[in-house]
Amino acid sequence: MKKKLLPTLLSISTLSFAYDAEEAQSMYEEDCTKCHDSSVFTRPAKERKVNDLATLKKQVSRCVGATGASWFEEDEENVVEYLNKNFYKFAKEKATK
Ligand code: HEC
Repeated sequence: MKKKLLPTLLSISTLSFAYDAEEAQSMYEEDCTKCHDSSVFTRPAKERKVNDLATLKKQVSRCVGATGASWFEEDEENVVEYLNKNFYKFAKEKATK
């Protein structure tokens, strides 16, 4: 019991965001593949909706709402990171929008 509790408490109390690729991928596959697959991320820039990091964050937020799943903000950030690393590859800059 004690052994299991400690990591849980640690992860809850960790304030800084740590990217977890496996978690992101499993959440994405579980909740995000009902309406579209990942081919929407790799459409030519002209056809796709998202062409910068700020828009990606907004779109993920919107889509999380559409799934009806209850994600934490950290989960959203995690999946934004996942999508950016694997598909969009935007440079890391401070969001302007
Ligand atoms: C209820 C349906 C639905 C679900 C579930 C859904 N999406 Fe979407 N998503 C859409 C629609 C509709 C679009 C717009 C598609 C288009 O423009 O052709 C979209 C577009 C996107 C885009 C932009 C693609 C582009 O053009 O660059 C991203 C990123 C995205 N979704 C991420 C997600 C993520 C992450 C999840 C899981 C949390 C998710 N979606 C779940 C409906 C959904």
